[in-house]
Amino acid sequence: MSGRIPQHFIDDLLARVNIVDVVDSRIKLKRAGKNYSALCPFHKEKSPSFSVSADKQFYYCFGCGAGGNALGFVMEFERLSFPEAVEELAKTVGLEVPHEHDRERDVAKEKQVKKQFDLLEEANQFYQKQLRSHSEREKAVAYLKKRGVSGQIAARFQLGYAPPGWDNLQQHIAKEQADADALLLASGMMVENEERGRRYDRFRDRIMFPIRDMRGRTIGFGARVLTNEKPKYLNSPETDTFHKGRELYGLYEARQNTGTLEKLLIVEGYMDVVSLAQHGLTWSVATLGTATTDAHLERIFKLVNEVVFCFDGDAAGRQAAKRALHTCVPVLRDGLMARFLFLPDGEDPDTLVRSEGVEAFSQRVNESLPFSEYFFKALSEDIDLTSMDGRARFSTEALPLIRTMQVSVLQQMMMDRVAEMTGLSIDQLDTIANLHAKVEPPVQFEAESVAPAPQRGYFESKPRRQEQRFEPVEQVRSGTRINLVNSAISILMHRPDLAAQAVKPEELDGVLLENIGLLKALLHYFQNTPDASLGTLALDWQHDPELMPNLLVLNEISQLDPVLSNVDAQVLLNDALQRLVARKTEKQLRDLTQLSRERPLTSEEKVLLATLLAQRNNSQ
Ligand code: CTP
Ligand code: MN
Repeated sequence: MSGRIPQHFIDDLLARVNIVDVVDSRIKLKRAGKNYSALCPFHKEKSPSFSVSADKQFYYCFGCGAGGNALGFVMEFERLSFPEAVEELAKTVGLEVPHEHDRERDVAKEKQVKKQFDLLEEANQFYQKQLRSHSEREKAVAYLKKRGVSGQIAARFQLGYAPPGWDNLQQHIAKEQADADALLLASGMMVENEERGRRYDRFRDRIMFPIRDMRGRTIGFGARVLTNEKPKYLNSPETDTFHKGRELYGLYEARQNTGTLEKLLIVEGYMDVVSLAQHGLTWSVATLGTATTDAHLERIFKLVNEVVFCFDGDAAGRQAAKRALHTCVPVLRDGLMARFLFLPDGEDPDTLVRSEGVEAFSQRVNESLPFSEYFFKALSEDIDLTSMDGRARFSTEALPLIRTMQVSVLQQMMMDRVAEMTGLSIDQLDTIANLHAKVEPPVQFEAESVAPAPQRGYFESKPRRQEQRFEPVEQVRSGTRINLVNSAISILMHRPDLAAQAVKPEELDGVLLENIGLLKALLHYFQNTPDASLGTLALDWQHDPELMPNLLVLNEISQLDPVLSNVDAQVLLNDALQRLVARKTEKQLRDLTQLSRERPLTSEEKVLLATLLAQRNNSQ
């Protein structure tokens, strides 16, 4: 097959495959908390430093630095080219790889989608017209009146009425469309009974809520019965034009009718959105019978900097709030705000705004809990923070979540708060967090960012995109640079096996450079511990109060160096070590020369001087 593979297909493919399955079908993975681990297939090791993150759809090896997404893994593991790997993965999810010269088919598809949009708009107009003129329109109008919806608001939301009967829409569309049935089926407006093959309108005798995309095009419908019958609401199914996990009811209307849209209130129901708008609160949207997804949040935060989640006060509401909290964690960054509003049990925004008015309701919104406050409240809910066990449990629950946040002042502040609540230092927490996810590449908290004064736990700085956190070089703690010592350390981390043929640590005695103690400790450890690996080192050092701080430094250094090819590593390591030893020679020579100016050297010193001079000449 030739021809370029379109990017959208690759995105779609990666969205469909799960890297955990992809890797697990090739090497056995073991669950390790949120992640999975295994012996790295790309370098020799005895204890696992290879991990796969389901959340991030990424793999990474702490040992050799290999890392990437599912496609990268298949390429590396199967030694395939990029297009071959795409083919391979696509097969597993039953997709056919399109190539550029499938253009014609794309064009045909686009035409089809355009026809569906037109059909949905036609249906929307049809239902609105029925609300104005159908013989049974009165009961629909009466229902909307009963719910406090004015004609103006009904028009704003383009509410309509699907009259009783099996084929009103079908008849209407068939008048003008040759392939009416096919289009009606494809756009979800018609249902086909599988057994008898009978076809009929999906929506009958219901109030219609057209769902519009950002451009105002109708992409689907929600539909409510007028009585207490079940199901109360029917929704369009997923189609080419309608994706529940991405769309929000009322977003188009909120943008049209709010002067400057500054924040969005996320509620549960169609009627909540309509009713709030009726009372002048124009900036609410509803998820379409699903939980808020990260795709929703991405979309929202492209438009506004603040989102307020609204939940029922009951157990289900609290459960939903926790889910939303988790969805927020990786998305929030400085300048973005999420708040959590809990309504009294048994109320929803519609009933509340109608009973207490929009001012009182807005007051509730203003007093809702900021993300960080709700975060700590939710996480410490059933935990006794006065006990040591409780504090430990709390930190092991909070830290992994905070780790997945974007690098931000907010993240830093939340770490500070955990420190405050647990009585542990940031460095200790940092270490715990990193060790907790043992083989995941560590997240660095920006040491340089100076926190401005908190405003309800948030900051008003401009939104700023953070790089994907697996990018190694971006997040290095300030101050750690690549120099001779750190590059030797870095090589040893990637290739502990090279320690055996390297200099003994004592040869570096007398070299006074930052991290030289760590380099010596690494050499010592790898030269004297059978079957040593970075994994065993982490395990051995983490409980040693003297050595434990080294792990922090190792984390930093591990992100400094690009992955070395195996060929160069040995040469580079020996070169670095030799130059360090030479530095020691130089320094001792300088010291002795200096000394000789102050007083005559002892005979021992003279011997040392001669030896050093000989060493230097040899190494030049
Ligand atoms: N929903 C749904 N299908 C159902 C019930 C509910 O899709 N059978 C979705 C709808 O989006 C609905 C939301 O969940 O708006 C909230 O449902 P619920 O709280 O039961 O209804 P309300 O929004 O309060 O509806 P109403 O006020 O019209 O009774
Ligand atoms: Mn309701």
